[in-house]
Amino acid sequence: MKIVVVTGSPHRAGTSALLADKFIEGAQSNGHEVFRFNAAFENINPCRGCDACGMNGPCVIPDAISEKLIQKLVDCDMIVLVTPLYYFGFSAQIKMVIDRFYSRTGHIHGKKSALLATSWNNDSWTMTALKAHYTRLCEYMEWRSQGAIYATGCGTRSMIERSDFPQKAFELGKSV
Ligand SMILES: Cc1cc2nc3c(=O)[nH]c(=O)nc-3n(C[C@H](O)[C@H](O)[C@H](O)COP(=O)(O)O)c2cc1C
Repeated sequence: MKIVVVTGSPHRAGTSALLADKFIEGAQSNGHEVFRFNAAFENINPCRGCDACGMNGPCVIPDAISEKLIQKLVDCDMIVLVTPLYYFGFSAQIKMVIDRFYSRTGHIHGKKSALLATSWNNDSWTMTALKAHYTRLCEYMEWRSQGAIYATGCGTRSMIERSDFPQKAFELGKSV
């Protein structure tokens, strides 16, 4: 499969980056081709809602989403979203990418998908809003989710390294 992994943290060696690394390691060990887009380190902009694309491209914004990412999303078999939990939802960096699906939304439908998320807190409700968002997104995009990792209680690199979430991310990557 062709897999696109989109990360959304400004921490290059952060907790969600570790889950992305491990997922990719697993997926590549199974022969899959991975394209990684680190949204926080690219020149990206939010959707302007101008509707020039008519939800069927091209997008008028000349940035890394238009130039490097959108065609990869159209051509891939699986999309993996990787985010730190920011105020109970996706980080702004990854939400910007999701909103920009708009110009090609019909062509990004029907893929396989996965979500990898990390948070500081470890309450039963910590990830409920993100879970609801991801579930609804999968329904709307007709994505077949292959799994999600909600790594609660993983606010720092040392916290996540002591947990079994990196291994779970590797196994998820290997299983797809
Ligand atoms: C702006 C901001 C908002 C955050 N919001 C939450 C939150 O709502 N719940 C939570 O448990 N942790 C929250 N955190 C903590 C991060 O989710 C957590 O530290 C995560 O491991 C960071 O991932 P990263 O290392 O990949 O950037 C927040 C951190 C920041 C900077």
